[in-house]
Amino acid sequence: MTLREPPGERGEALEQAIEEAARLIAASRHVVALVGAGLSAESGVPTFRGPEGLWTKHGEPDLRDYERFVEDPKRWWEMRRDRANRLGELVQALETAVPNPGHLALRDMEEMGRLKHIITQNIDNLHQLAGSQAITEIHGNRTKLRCVLCNQRWPVEGFLLDELPPKCPDCTAGIVKGDTVMFGEPIPRDALDDCINQSQMCDCMLLVGTSAVVYPAAQFPVDVKSAGGSLIEVNPNETPLTGLCDVVLRGPAGETLPLVVEKLRAAR
Ligand code: OAD
Repeated sequence: MTLREPPGERGEALEQAIEEAARLIAASRHVVALVGAGLSAESGVPTFRGPEGLWTKHGEPDLRDYERFVEDPKRWWEMRRDRANRLGELVQALETAVPNPGHLALRDMEEMGRLKHIITQNIDNLHQLAGSQAITEIHGNRTKLRCVLCNQRWPVEGFLLDELPPKCPDCTAGIVKGDTVMFGEPIPRDALDDCINQSQMCDCMLLVGTSAVVYPAAQFPVDVKSAGGSLIEVNPNETPLTGLCDVVLRGPAGETLPLVVEKLRAAR
């Protein structure tokens, strides 16, 4: 189903939902987008769950990933290339992906002063490539490295890896790993604090392309709603949070979000 379908009951319902979403966004003080893998699906990056999801096709990842890193970080670094090969499909998709109209619409909303922050679970760097500025990457960024102790981050490119595991050049005490959060790894404190602060300020949250089953991210919309804020879901499928949402845009983010931006522009 798309929003370009001939007008019918569904098309009209979607049109109304777009209007309502734009109205809510325009009437809110601090709009935050909580983003998941579905936003990048139209950029060719596979989602995790669902029929075409990475884990549906290739099985769930190793839940002891971080434990293994802590046990033997040197070995983790030595195996990094093997892992990249195993996840070849994903790595290739990530390397060639470019932002789609959904990413650009979020960038436009920020430029219009309507969207204050993006909390993304995506590691693909596509918000930055789209030009968004206020971003917290709760699960890290694949193009960066991070010190597990002081959370300092650096681009992967250009980081000297002559000694494994690399020691943090800043605090000199921590070990450096990929910035992407592994299974079993705590969310870095600075990122988590940002997300909590943003959720506390937020009076309208967009839930874009997330199945809303992974915590702590899935808790933020619940907190926003409990504090009296509103929720707008942008997803072709239902999620466990659909019932809490004030407005549901049942369509792909790359098609629905640009239409919300059009409405916001028209209402200026
Ligand atoms: P999922 O793969 O769990 O969910 C993707 C969601 O996107 C689903 O609800 C789809 O219906 C929806 N979707 C698919 N195509 C879409 C489109 N074109 N527009 C809008 N929505 C679309 O991905 P996440 O919710 O991001 O964490 O998963 C959360 C976390 O689970 C990930 O960050 C990852 C994994 O554990 C880590 O790896 C740490």
